[in-house]
Amino acid sequence: MKNAIITGATGGIGMEISRKLSSMGYNLALIYGNNHQQADALVEELSALTRVKAYSMDFSGGNGYTSTLKSILKDFGAFEVLVHGAGVSYRDLFHEMTELQFEELLSINLKPLYYVTREIIPCMIEGGKGSIISISSIWGSRPASMEVAYAMTKGALEQFTRSLASELSHMNIRVNAIAPGGVDTKLLANLNDQEKRDFIDDIPFKRLAKPEEVAELAAFLIEKGTYITGQVLTMDGGFTL
Ligand SMILES: NC(=O)c1ccc[n+]([C@@H]2O[C@H](COP(=O)([O-])OP(=O)(O)OC[C@H]3O[C@@H](n4cnc5c(N)ncnc54)[C@H](OP(=O)(O)O)[C@@H]3O)[C@@H](O)[C@H]2O)c1
Repeated sequence: MKNAIITGATGGIGMEISRKLSSMGYNLALIYGNNHQQADALVEELSALTRVKAYSMDFSGGNGYTSTLKSILKDFGAFEVLVHGAGVSYRDLFHEMTELQFEELLSINLKPLYYVTREIIPCMIEGGKGSIISISSIWGSRPASMEVAYAMTKGALEQFTRSLASELSHMNIRVNAIAPGGVDTKLLANLNDQEKRDFIDDIPFKRLAKPEEVAELAAFLIEKGTYITGQVLTMDGGFTL
């Protein structure tokens, strides 16, 4: 039986990746922050298809989640797939951003790449295979006025992806990232209606991505992209062309 562990599982993108992986026969350990209602609903929905359990882990609260990860590993044994989908975004001038927001960006977007991944790699090495997918953003490699700190975290995520891929490539563990443009989830609530319309107007496809489209790419990287590692795949409806 195949096992996957997903952070940000209650998010717009994380939920669709969870749905997709459950339809592909994966057992799921779903990690989320504070949206217990959404987590319960997702577990109920997916239990009909697969073995699924949700775990609340507030990444903004420091590093105390290592013990939860150990008990998840006890519950599931091992994982072949790890998806880093948790993330927050704040829009502000860099020098006006609060310390709390800056620290949250580091704690939620960046630190789990270390704290979660380091617990999962050993069982992938032991099992002789693995696929790690992280959700970056087009702002991981391009200048992002008003989202400087967010872009910092995504730039680091992309170097994490390439460097870890290199470190693990001889162990049959692939490490890749997806860099979406705008995706229709609650993360974009930090744009007002006019800003959202302007953003969509600048996208050649004239629409946001659906979270299902991100999930399709994640599923491709996990199951079909068996010769792909260390890559960041942009999907943005032509926005950055
Ligand atoms: N939507 C976009 O346009 C877009 C574009 C490019 C990249 N991305 C990236 O895609 C990823 C998923 O975003 P999304 O659009 O699905 O956003 P979303 O719908 O807002 O979901 C965010 C997820 O992160 C989790 N999270 C937030 N704070 C947390 C905390 N303190 N501790 C643990 N988990 C926490 C949330 O859990 P709870 O709700 O349970 O707290 C939720 O599962 C993010 O990394 C984001 O940067 C999104």
